[in-house]
Order: sequence, then C-alpha cells, then structure tokens
Amino acid sequence: MEHKVIVVGIGPGSPDYILPIASRSIAQAKALVGSQRALDAFAPSHVRAKVIDKDIKGVISFISESLAKSDVVVMVSGDPGFYSLLAALKANFTQSQMTVIPGISSMQLAFARISEVWQDAVLISMHGRQASDEDLQYKPHKKLGILTDHEHNPSYIARVLIHHGWPVDSQVWLGEALSYEDEHSKKLTLGETAQLAGFTHCVMVVIA
Ligand SMILES: C[S@@+](CC[C@H](N)C(=O)[O-])C[C@H]1O[C@@H](n2cnc3c(N)ncnc32)[C@H](O)[C@@H]1O
Repeated sequence: MEHKVIVVGIGPGSPDYILPIASRSIAQAKALVGSQRALDAFAPSHVRAKVIDKDIKGVISFISESLAKSDVVVMVSGDPGFYSLLAALKANFTQSQMTVIPGISSMQLAFARISEVWQDAVLISMHGRQASDEDLQYKPHKKLGILTDHEHNPSYIARVLIHHGWPVDSQVWLGEALSYEDEHSKKLTLGETAQLAGFTHCVMVVIA
C-alpha cells in the first residue's frame, strides 16, 4: 500500500483545541514535519522529524524520501485549508497521496471569542501577503477577519482600511496568542488601532 502524506491541523496552539484524531495521528507518526514550536510541543520521541523553515524544497524532499518507508505526518497550525503548507503540498503530491485532518482555525476561535457569526465575513490573510482592493474596500455592514504579521500589523492594516473608505469609528477586535495561557485581546476603534503598537501575529476582526 502506498504511504500517505497526512496533513494534520493542530489548531490555534493549546492541546485543548486539537481533535482526538489529530493527536492520534501525531502520536503514531514515524516521520513528522512541523514548526519548531509544534515539534517541541507534540513530537513523540524516536520520530524522524523535520522543521518547516524557509527551505520548503528541503521539506518536500524530506517528505518524498520518508514516504518510501512510512506515512509522513505534516502538522500545520489552525486548519490546513486556511493559509497553510497544504497549497505547496498539493503542488507536489497527488490527492490520492494525501489525507487531510481538519483543525480549528485561529479565525474560527477569534469569532467564537466575540460570539460573532463569520458566515457573512470576508476572510483575509495579510500574513506575508497583500489583500485585494475589493476585499479591503469599505461597504456598509461589512465584516472582515484578517490574519496579520509583523509588517502587516493592525496599525498598518487600520491605515490601509481607512484609505479604503472605512470610518474611523468602525469596531475592531484583536486577539493574540489565542488558546495559549498568555492569550490577550483588545477592543477599540479603527482610528485607535492606527496608533496601536504590537499585536503583530493576531486575528483582527473589523466590523463596519
Ligand atoms: C500562516 S497563518 C496560519 C493560519 C492557520 N492555518 C489557521 O487556520 O489559523 C499564521 C497567522 O495565523 C494567525 N494565528 C495563528 N495562530 C494564532 C493564535 N493562536 N492566535 C492568534 N492568531 C493566530 C496569525 O495571524 C498568524 O500570523
């Protein structure tokens, strides 16, 4: 039987938010790929491990070589279908070679924290990428969920949104380190967010 690439969503960080089937797959893994943080937290001993770093080609080579001997479990944060390594894996492995185990996205947890529905929200990642003008453009009653990074932080994004017509009194919620013990959040206006430092890797929810 052909060995599989098992892409496992590990949720937003705390083990409380991992599905039992994901934990089982990780515990049974003979070859495991993940961020240094995920490997430190979840890798069983005696597993062949590879850190996901900037060398994605090296990660793909490790997976391809390991597949000759066993399944390979690839841990990604949140849900694999929402801005993860899954896109790069799909470019290198066929659908029949892969099994995807979903996880709870940081985006889902953010909307849960504020008891807000997300079925009508525009979901964007500005983690290492820009968003389209159409997604950023203001419309009455529009709701945005945005993944941020060090450069595209809430202050920068607030200024971009104001430039795209969003009123400065639009409501903003920021959640960082969601599910961890040091989880913290802030509720403020878009105008205030433009002046805010920090919250570099967070989920930013903006409601017009
Ligand atoms: C490469 S994306 C991965 C998204 C992931 N696949 C998901 O579904 O949550 C990384 C970004 O997700 C967000 N993120 C991931 N985990 C988070 C957490 N525990 N708390 C807040 N934001 C988080 C941050 O915006 C971070 O920069």
